[in-house]
Amino acid sequence: MSDSGEEDVELEARLREQEYFRPPAKFVGQANVSDPAIYDRFEEFPDGFEEYANLLDWDETWDQVLDASNPPFYEWFTGGELNASYNCVDRHLDERKNQTALLWEGEDGEQRNISYRDLYREVNEMAAALRSIGVEEDDVVTLHLPMVPALPVTMLACARLGAPHSVVFAGFSATALAERVDSADSDYVVTIDGYYRRGELLDHVQKADAAMAEADRDPEVLVWTRHDEVDDSVDVSDDYTMVADLLDDHRRERVDPVSRDAEDPLFLMYTSGTTGEPKGCQHRTGGYLSYAAGTSKYVLDIEPEDTYWCAADIGWITGHSYIVYGPLALGTTSVMYEGAPDHPHKSRTWEIAEKYDVDIFHTSPTAVRQFMKWGAEYVEGYDFDFRHMTTVGEPIQPEAWLWYYKHIGGEDAVIVDTWWQTETGGHLITNLPALEDMKPGSAGLPAPGIEPALLDDDGEELEPASGRAGNLIIKKPWPGMLQTVYGNDERFISEYWEDFSDTDSDDWTDWNYKAGDGAVHERDGYFRILGRLDDVMNVAGHRLGTMELESAVSEVQDVAEAAVVSRDHTEKGEVPDVYVILREGVEESDEVRQRIVGAVEDEIGKFARPANVVFVDDLPKTRSGKIMRRLLENISNDKDLGDTTTLRDPSVPERIRDQVKAD
Ligand code: WT7
Repeated sequence: MSDSGEEDVELEARLREQEYFRPPAKFVGQANVSDPAIYDRFEEFPDGFEEYANLLDWDETWDQVLDASNPPFYEWFTGGELNASYNCVDRHLDERKNQTALLWEGEDGEQRNISYRDLYREVNEMAAALRSIGVEEDDVVTLHLPMVPALPVTMLACARLGAPHSVVFAGFSATALAERVDSADSDYVVTIDGYYRRGELLDHVQKADAAMAEADRDPEVLVWTRHDEVDDSVDVSDDYTMVADLLDDHRRERVDPVSRDAEDPLFLMYTSGTTGEPKGCQHRTGGYLSYAAGTSKYVLDIEPEDTYWCAADIGWITGHSYIVYGPLALGTTSVMYEGAPDHPHKSRTWEIAEKYDVDIFHTSPTAVRQFMKWGAEYVEGYDFDFRHMTTVGEPIQPEAWLWYYKHIGGEDAVIVDTWWQTETGGHLITNLPALEDMKPGSAGLPAPGIEPALLDDDGEELEPASGRAGNLIIKKPWPGMLQTVYGNDERFISEYWEDFSDTDSDDWTDWNYKAGDGAVHERDGYFRILGRLDDVMNVAGHRLGTMELESAVSEVQDVAEAAVVSRDHTEKGEVPDVYVILREGVEESDEVRQRIVGAVEDEIGKFARPANVVFVDDLPKTRSGKIMRRLLENISNDKDLGDTTTLRDPSVPERIRDQVKAD
């Protein structure tokens, strides 16, 4: 038996005998929260949340904590005014101007150590540069940047001007970028010539070229450079403005932070929903920043003296809240790494942890499963000592949890699983690390002031801690919640509220936020998240809508009809499988398969690439013609088909299954 086989047996045995794990005493002794009275303070609704708002510097104090008079359009800290860039940068200068704010490591080994003073200078110069090309308060600026310092610098420069940013993950394709530029009415795009991934300099600006050709709008494009000069291998259009040139004109300039109303939007973050069109989740300035800072302090246990590393990408909400806004609002030192965890070798993560003496480490279950697969030998010999570790994005299997605990945490670090969403702005279900026992596989208790519940499909609330599964809802508003879907209040209501609220009521207690996830409220009060109940899948922690994938596949001329379902995957959690009916006369071939895969890469991005493309003669449909994706999902996951009698042709799923098995 191999070592890993023996280890699996040992991990399983340990999990059988031990359900809960105590947080280490040395952690508890130093934690930011060690008194359970915090839950009582937040029982005072909504005033408990002032504790988070008080972590910030306000230009004008709020008059009212929550205005719930027009649900679900809640307003937080109304009358308050503040600037997010001031809170993340300027206010730290007195005490920690020489402290490192961002410790950046390029994949090629380049390093930058950006102090709070450097950050202040760079953010001001970039704000001046943006203003000089016409960016004004409330203009949406689209950022298509990878994990380089230019990204947080540009975000904070936008925040300084009161211009909401809309960061599009660098892995998104030109088409996805164009769609988001148009959807956000954005007249400015900030990109970069290239960046490193697995040793290769990727030409990134070409995505902007293609996006500008596709978009209806005609935004001004600004281009950062990965090195001091444009790389010769990359061709940058003369139509674009080089950020480096602009900055030269604005050296040492200062821009006063624009005082923003607490309810003014800070940013948009697009995410996938149940239709083909991504939603621009709009986050407010005061409530969002308060919630990101508060949860960074209480859940992530961040102290200014810490070195904190969240190994997510700033292009997703995790990076917004827990690389940029939360940690910088608290004045800590945050690590940022450009590249792949296995470049140039599989110990890169632990090498960085050792080099920068990281105290707090934040990653995804997908990454943990990958580290686990690579093996503990890649961790051994690296000298780092995490006090706190987290996971986010998907449920973590108890075996993966225990491996993380043992091999990365040395059985001496606390671990919290944090459940939340792009829409929620910050953690909603998570233990407070010093207060609750860890339980592998469970997200834990609700965060302070958060009231989740489970409803059955008829909307009836399940008994608390019943041990049963239901639709996860949140009963009370919280400051980090999205304000609306940009430009589409109806969609905001239909996606998140309509199903489980009395939409005629103007009493907020009749409104419930629908998370779209299934969960079990266990008898010990912990929530175990089961995953999405809607047509949204979670691929390596990235959320993808079935409809978006299907519409990308349908772009291919050869395709008559397509259905996309998720298949469980040992490392990535889920992967998309595509079932396709080809048009009359089109032969099945690898070329067609390649065209389909290519279409998904072009429309969305390489990270969304389908795992399997299955050519079929027919799809399982109801008599009214609706595709029963659930049956295909059962086929993909080798599960029982279940009832097929309502199908127009009940023999279809069997035929597909035989075909998949034969392949
Ligand atoms: C969906 C939200 C929030 C940052 C990353 C993803 C799933 C998120 C957990 C967790 C189980 C989780 C849910 C959720 N999810 N965290 N700790 N345990 N599932 O943000 O892209 O908006 O996706 O991710 O299904 O609805 P997102």
